[in-house]
Amino acid sequence: MAKEIIPSDKFKEITYNKENPLRDETIIRLNKMIEIVMNVAKGIYSEQVQLSDKNDEIDALGIGINMMIDDIKKNVERIKKEKINLDKQEKRRTIELKEERNKFHATAESISDGILVIDFKGNILIVNSAFERLFGIKKEQVTGRHVLDCLEDVKILDLITRKLTTGHEYYTEELIITDRVTNTEKILNGRISSVFNQAGKKLGAVIVLRNITKEKEAERIKNEFVSNVSHEIRTPLSSIKGFVDTLLMVKVSESERKKFLNIIKQESNRLNQLITDLLDLSRIESGRVELKFEPVDVFQKLEAVKSEILGKISRKKLSFEIKVPASLPLIKADKNALFQILINLVSNAIKFTEKEGKICVKAELCNKKECVKFSVRDTGYGIEKQYLTKIWEKFYRIETSSHKIPGTGLGLPIVKDLVEKHNGKIWVNSKPGKGSVFYFTIPVFTERKK
Ligand SMILES: Nc1ncnc2c1ncn2[C@@H]1O[C@H](COP(=O)(O)OP(=O)(O)O)[C@@H](O)[C@H]1O
Ligand SMILES: [Mg+2]
Repeated sequence: MAKEIIPSDKFKEITYNKENPLRDETIIRLNKMIEIVMNVAKGIYSEQVQLSDKNDEIDALGIGINMMIDDIKKNVERIKKEKINLDKQEKRRTIELKEERNKFHATAESISDGILVIDFKGNILIVNSAFERLFGIKKEQVTGRHVLDCLEDVKILDLITRKLTTGHEYYTEELIITDRVTNTEKILNGRISSVFNQAGKKLGAVIVLRNITKEKEAERIKNEFVSNVSHEIRTPLSSIKGFVDTLLMVKVSESERKKFLNIIKQESNRLNQLITDLLDLSRIESGRVELKFEPVDVFQKLEAVKSEILGKISRKKLSFEIKVPASLPLIKADKNALFQILINLVSNAIKFTEKEGKICVKAELCNKKECVKFSVRDTGYGIEKQYLTKIWEKFYRIETSSHKIPGTGLGLPIVKDLVEKHNGKIWVNSKPGKGSVFYFTIPVFTERKK
């Protein structure tokens, strides 16, 4: 050890006893050595002890010091290199970690499901935008805070606390929440599962919320439709069966026989309509309807519609009027499709109008003379504002107006689809209690476009 090689008292004597400076060559050599060793202590290794040609103990000491300096230098350089490597590795790991985190964030952001990651205590680690929107929170405000302090929705909190307090790996639950922006109800499928690290230690939990409102609505509509269709089929069928049984088993007068057969005919027509609607819709939906566009005379078509619905009109004592200017040009339409559009709209007008009401079908050239604007006006129940967009949806029927009135809710979606296939537009104006006007446009037939 240094103290043994240069005893401390002597060391003091050499360096600090300034009143008695020793000029002896030995002392000078030793002082030089001390300077070099001190420099080494400060991290300067550039200088080595110059050996004399005396080959004495001091030179031996010098050789030892030089070897030691070499050794220290090598070690220091090795350590420096290792540190540089370690630093590089650390930097790479940090970059990788950052990239991983960015990738995770980007993935979480691109997912339309709401995602929330919490640690095992319930503190929020990650929130994606979809989650922010669902609960009206901002990630900057909630990250690092406890869920109980940030989320107000009782159901989601219940799901989280149950997960945190029980050992179960995951829970799935349906949650109904109120969207703060639109103030509408949303149905969510909430799934919460544990997050583990590579060593298998539980780190927290991830909550994934999928918005299943549309699926639920579709399911509800489908179920409602199936029960509606079954009902619609069963009612005319049992009526037909009843009258056929009577005709077969009971002797009836000629006038009664005619009456019964008429009812049977009517009910068969109803059944036929339902099946036709269903088939039409499935054909339109699967894109199997091919329309044949040709010049069509509007007045003739309206007359055909009138003769089809005459029976219904007179039974309800409705007035029915057709208004078409004689100068109206031919339109470019598919004859069957146009008939279907008109029959559907006129049938609705008849169905949703009280006895002795008025129905008027009008066709006129629209301002730019590029199309003919049709209107089907009734003095019926009318449609409340909130249903004006809904009625175009498949199977949608307004409970109040369609109550006890047969139908499938397929007419208007079919009509809309057909009008749009003609490059036309369709819309409705209505006043509850006063009546409705359904409008649609069909392009005029021009030779050039033929
Ligand atoms: N002219 C109308 N007046 C009042 N309500 C109407 C009229 N036309 C349609 N509706 C409403 O729109 C709903 C959907 O119409 P639609 O698709 O033709 O089905 P459906 O005639 O089978 O009921 C109807 O059930 C009714 O509630
Ligand atoms: Mg209808």
